[in-house]
Amino acid sequence: MATLATAPTAAMVPRVPIPPKGVDYRNKIVLAPMVRSGELPSRLLALKYGADLVWGPETVDKSLIGAERRINPRNGTVEFTRMPSNGGRPDKAVKESIIYRLDPVREKGRLVFQMGTANPDLAVQAARVVAADVSGIDVNSGCPKPFSTHSGMGAALLRTPDLLVSILEALVKEVGEPFQIGISVKIRILSDPEETKTLVSRLVKTGITGLTVHCRTTPMRPRERAIRDQLRMIAEICHEAGVACVMNGDVTSRDEGLALMTEYGVDGAMIATAAESNSSCFRTKADGGLAPWQEVVHEYMCLCMEVENRMANTKYLLNNLIPGKNKEFNNAKMAKTYLDICRALKFDDLLPAAVRTDELLGLAEKWEKAPDQPADVQSKETKTKAVRDAMESESARAAGGAGGRVKAAAPVAHAGGPVRRASAPRPKVAAVNAEQPAVEATASQTQTQTQVTA
Ligand SMILES: Cc1cc2nc3c(=O)[nH]c(=O)nc-3n(C[C@H](O)[C@H](O)[C@H](O)COP(=O)(O)O)c2cc1C
Repeated sequence: MATLATAPTAAMVPRVPIPPKGVDYRNKIVLAPMVRSGELPSRLLALKYGADLVWGPETVDKSLIGAERRINPRNGTVEFTRMPSNGGRPDKAVKESIIYRLDPVREKGRLVFQMGTANPDLAVQAARVVAADVSGIDVNSGCPKPFSTHSGMGAALLRTPDLLVSILEALVKEVGEPFQIGISVKIRILSDPEETKTLVSRLVKTGITGLTVHCRTTPMRPRERAIRDQLRMIAEICHEAGVACVMNGDVTSRDEGLALMTEYGVDGAMIATAAESNSSCFRTKADGGLAPWQEVVHEYMCLCMEVENRMANTKYLLNNLIPGKNKEFNNAKMAKTYLDICRALKFDDLLPAAVRTDELLGLAEKWEKAPDQPADVQSKETKTKAVRDAMESESARAAGGAGGRVKAAAPVAHAGGPVRRASAPRPKVAAVNAEQPAVEATASQTQTQTQVTA
């Protein structure tokens, strides 16, 4: 058609097509993949404050293969679970672990799953487990930790480009095409720009839709300033091949990210540590800018309780979100239960939700002081019935790949449910432990094994 001849120059720039269920990384300010700090509540927090896309924490391929998909009937989240090995000890009880959790509604079209892998076959098998629930699969080729590099994963892949290329090509063909989602890679710069150039030139020909470059070399520590002098060159190679280029390293806010994108000619910017300290960095100045930490933490606690986040993980990000100088809030950092955290932070409106979440997660035994609000005064039988109901609907859950979002229970923040008096007997949490807390208790262990910090 005549319009083709007169089409604007921008339309001539080649672009690897974005698959129908994938997502374009262009013009996006995104949350970085972060083990521990990138679990579901912090991703939802980043999205709430304006992140365009969120990367999940690196998850090792083998940990996901064979995982079961299920929907949590209380909040509609999708959970990938598996039974961990008991280390060959038949006497040792094994409990189900949640390997990965996502929100099919709030993260829809915005979640990129990041994988740790050093094997194309395993990468494909693992990616197939989550592919229908995410918008993209990203390969971590930047983690410098020995845990990752010893097994050939992470930054080790920068030194084995043939392997990295074969992993990306396999994912594009075996997962990206059938599931209609994009495949991408996250790398670090190499100290010799020519080597970076050679590597990137190969990666962009694999069919990937996006490449993120962490502007530090593998030996560089996080505190060292990011080096941006290779960025324009990398962006140019990406653009010639039609691949989106996302920059990462010392980007501290959406406003700064947008300015850097213009300065360096890249397509997007990724934020990690600034979001760990205050997720509202994704909000522009014009929209209010950085929110006070109390507001961010309140929001974070709501989300943690809503998605039944395990306590150890909740506290990990909480310790980053509460500024270190605030001695007044040390009690919150020391607390072991949602109730005690909310009390220490004086989040009185969240106390009923905290009680319910602690009961669900089997944390009530650790309360420093039992709840004493008048509304909480109920018999043990009534209280345990509320929890029992939740567990019964859990056992009736839809398992496997089928099933849409189950209508979520009322947000936990408003669904406190009855709790006991201080004088009432302690609940038999064993009944509750039968499923949910067990899952959470072992999740921390599994995550240490399967998710590594880059
Ligand atoms: C707690 C933490 C966990 C991280 N986990 C991952 C990860 O799972 N995968 C990955 O590619 N990078 C990981 N990173 C690296 C970040 O994604 C990012 O590349 C790095 O922090 C540089 O960005 P920044 O300067 O904005 O912090 C992690 C960083 C932190 C602080």
